[in-house]
Amino acid sequence: MRNYDKIAFFYEYLMSHVNYSYWVSYIGKILKYYNFSPDGLNVLECACGTSSFLELWKKKYKGDYIGIDLSYQMLQQGIKRCSSLVQADMKTLPFKAHFNLILSLFDSVNYLMTYEELLSFLNCTNSVLEKNGLLIFDVTTVYNSLTHFRQNCYFDHYGDTAFEHKVYFDSDNNIQCNDFKYVYKGKSVVEKHRQKVYEYDELIGLINQTDFRLLGAYKNFTLKDVDNNTERIHFVLKK
Ligand SMILES: C[S@@+](CC[C@H](N)C(=O)[O-])C[C@H]1O[C@@H](n2cnc3c(N)ncnc32)[C@H](O)[C@@H]1O
Repeated sequence: MRNYDKIAFFYEYLMSHVNYSYWVSYIGKILKYYNFSPDGLNVLECACGTSSFLELWKKKYKGDYIGIDLSYQMLQQGIKRCSSLVQADMKTLPFKAHFNLILSLFDSVNYLMTYEELLSFLNCTNSVLEKNGLLIFDVTTVYNSLTHFRQNCYFDHYGDTAFEHKVYFDSDNNIQCNDFKYVYKGKSVVEKHRQKVYEYDELIGLINQTDFRLLGAYKNFTLKDVDNNTERIHFVLKK
């Protein structure tokens, strides 16, 4: 079973605290900061999940959009919001089309566990961007894992499904672990999520190996520089 195969059914419940409309405004703010109009763009969202972001983006801004995700079940949940969804891997994008803006949000890039995977993502997004197009993605930080996700266990239920969510951080390898165990009609299923939490300097080193130019890296949801207390970094790269 793939990551998100089961969690897809209650992903939106688990993420009900996330303010996607604020995220849409924040990406719009970054674009305006770089003199890009958020309207009229050809947008690709990589790892769009259940399309919560794309739904709000297309309500706010004109333009074309496509979402891709590795998980068929996540896309199935998202199809009610967004019709342009494709099951694909963000390391090997199946497009000839060229986009003006590529996004990958909510620490989806942290699912790329090795330098090779991250470089594949950067190189293939570069190849489907128009010249001067932007790639914006976010990652979580070691500070975030140590502060909020060092070790914890939650119990909850959604409809008939009871679940246990164990969170822990492997600080030797900088891997954030989320283990979900579900019990539904007496059967239990376990989904183990692993996300690599890269250091800022590692990411800069990798970006420097690509044809992208780094425009900025921003703390949390601001336009401030990254510092030691940053929980999430949004990177803005230009082709
Ligand atoms: C934390 S969720 C974020 C989903 C969505 N961006 C959101 O904001 O709700 C991470 C998503 O990344 C997707 N994902 C992980 N690795 C992927 C890959 N190599 N290519 C495409 N999607 C991937 C998962 O299937 C999942 O939907």
